[in-house]
Parts: sequence; C-alpha cells; structure tokens
Amino acid sequence: MKIIAWKRDRLEELVELWNKELAVDFPMRKELFIQNSFNDVNVSYEGSYIAVDDQDHVIGFVVAKRWQETIDVKMDPKRGWIQVLLIDSAHRGKGLGTKLLKRAEAQLKGNGVEEMQLGGDPFHYFSGIPDQYKNAQKLAKKHGYTKRVDTYDLINHLDKKYDLPVDNSVVFTILKKEEEVDLILFLERCFPGRWVYETMKYFEMNGDGREFVVVKKKGQIIGFCRINDSHSPFIAQNIYWSPLFEQEVGGIGPLGIDANEQKQGYGLAIVQAAIAYLQERNTETIIIDWTILVDFYKKLDFNPWKIYGVYLKDLK
Ligand SMILES: CC(C)(COP(=O)(O)OP(=O)(O)OC[C@H]1O[C@@H](n2cnc3c(N)ncnc32)[C@H](O)[C@@H]1OP(=O)(O)O)[C@@H](O)C(=O)NCCC(=O)NCCS
Repeated sequence: MKIIAWKRDRLEELVELWNKELAVDFPMRKELFIQNSFNDVNVSYEGSYIAVDDQDHVIGFVVAKRWQETIDVKMDPKRGWIQVLLIDSAHRGKGLGTKLLKRAEAQLKGNGVEEMQLGGDPFHYFSGIPDQYKNAQKLAKKHGYTKRVDTYDLINHLDKKYDLPVDNSVVFTILKKEEEVDLILFLERCFPGRWVYETMKYFEMNGDGREFVVVKKKGQIIGFCRINDSHSPFIAQNIYWSPLFEQEVGGIGPLGIDANEQKQGYGLAIVQAAIAYLQERNTETIIIDWTILVDFYKKLDFNPWKIYGVYLKDLK
C-alpha cells in the first residue's frame, strides 16, 4: 500500500470506488466530482490523498479543504473540512482510514486550521456524516470529533399542484440579471457569509438570475430563495443525487427573510412560490438539503429523506 498525492488523472478510479461503495445512496457523476473535489479553489491539494494497493489500484481517498478564496465574505479562515473519507470495503479495519484522516488533519493544522468539520465544506457533498454510515460516525468519535446537531435533507414528491401565493403586501418574482447587485447587497446585509459566497459564485459561473425567487416589498428585496434544476449553471447541492430519480428533480434553498420582516408568513410563502416556479419547469420531485427546520417545511409537505450528523473537532 502507498499513499500518493491528490491527482486528477485518477478521476475515473476515484469515481468508480465512490460508486462501488456509495452509489445506492449517493450516485456520483464525474462532472460533479470534478466540480467539487478538483475545481473548488478551497480543495487542499497538499492535504488530500489517495491510497493505492501494490497493483496501483485506488483503495481509498480523503479530500481536505480549507478556505482559500480571496474574496472576503466573512468565512472562517481557521476552519478546515474533510469533504469525504472513503476506504474500499475490502480494505477496511486495517487503520487506513485513520492514517488518511490524520495526515489530512496534520496538513491542515500546519496551514493554520484550528477547527475541523466533517462535511459542510464549500462545494460539499454531505452536510455531515450520513446517519446510516455508523462506522464513519464511530471513527469520527474515536478521533475526537463530537456531534453537534443532526441536519436533514427533505423531499416532496409533488402529488399536487402548488400556486403562486397571493399576498397584496409583497411581490414574488424570479430575479433579473440586472438585479444581481441588489441581491448581493441584500445578502451582505441580512445573511453575511456562506450564502453571499455561493451567490457570487453563481453569477461568476454565468448564472442569469433564473435560480433565485425574490420577495419584494415596496420595490425592495426582503427575502430570497434559491431554486435549482438540471438547467442550472452548475450542479447545485440539492440536485446532486438526482440520478436516483427518473424524472426531473428540483432543489430549494438556501432561503431567508430579512429579520425585520420575519413571522409574517413570507418565509413559507416564498417556499410555496419556489415550488410553483419549479413545477412550471416540469420538476416532479423537490429536495431541500441541509436544514434543521423540519417542522417549518412540513407545512408544505416536505418530509425527511436523509439525515446527517454534524461533527466538529478542535485542533488547537
Ligand atoms: C426560516 C425563515 C425563512 C422563516 O421565515 P418567516 O417569514 O419568519 O416564516 P413564516 O412567517 O412564513 O412562518 C410560517 C410558519 O412557519 C413557522 N416557523 C417559522 N420559522 C420556524 C422555525 N424556525 N422552525 C419551525 N417553524 C417555524 C411559523 O411559526 C409559522 O407557523 P404558523 O403558520 O403555524 O403560524 C426565517 O426565519 C429566516 O430567514 N431564517 C434565517 C435563515 C434560515 O434559517 N433559512 C432556512 C435555512 S434552511
């Protein structure tokens, strides 16, 4: 066995191993793996590794990330992430997972990382460790990670038609390209951090606005909701696993209402608007990823689909 550097020329084998082990729940596409594990600027190439056996076959890998963007969106530069750690089931129980994890952690620590998170990275696959992967959760605990919370992916199979909500105090629309700056300013003011970053990335990747529903009061944006489908400019997080479905899958989220305008029904209404727009785009199933608001979304017929445990560890 040998541990080698993170290299794109191993793409086929990495995706093959992923699908051998995880495709039942999380079918991987090459384009998604390239997007999230090679092209994301936050990938730590020096902290990510591939394990190969004596015949040079890939038998495991770990992808580590740390914040490396130059744009300032108030992300924590001391946070490091393990995007994925995967060992071929024929090679488990021999300390290989531990070895890869420790190497990744040591490398990130050497680069100033003080807190580690499993999943939840920029361009993540998982918001935490999938609940059904008990061995991974056990390994995490053994290496000093503690579980903070469970997060959920929710699903709605759209057994009925949803209409655009009617509310005379506000207007729901799809964002126009020329409103890009208005949306970014709204997000910087109301939801600084990751959602600003993701929105900037969206426009950088030629998004034209069709992926955002906004709610406006007196002409001003007071809330937003992201919607995704197979025509979106990159593979967005809530449609990652759409190969599990035969028909068109849509995704809703993130979303948020200005804190001064919450508790007036706008949050639920913008989700309903998002469903209605996605239905117009022939979506048959909608996924909401990475949320703890199970009761909120239940009001619009979303039910838990996948559960993840969020694990963190102090490296200091
Ligand atoms: C979540 C959020 C969008 C809700 O917006 P809102 O305008 O306050 O929600 P609404 O007024 O439409 O609430 C509608 C219903 O959902 C319930 N609800 C609202 N927030 C809730 C929450 N956090 N958990 C459970 N139920 C909630 C309300 O009690 C209300 O119930 P009712 O119809 O029985 O009275 C808003 O709180 C927000 O922007 N939060 C910060 C960003 C965020 O967490 N986004 C979701 C990420 S997945």
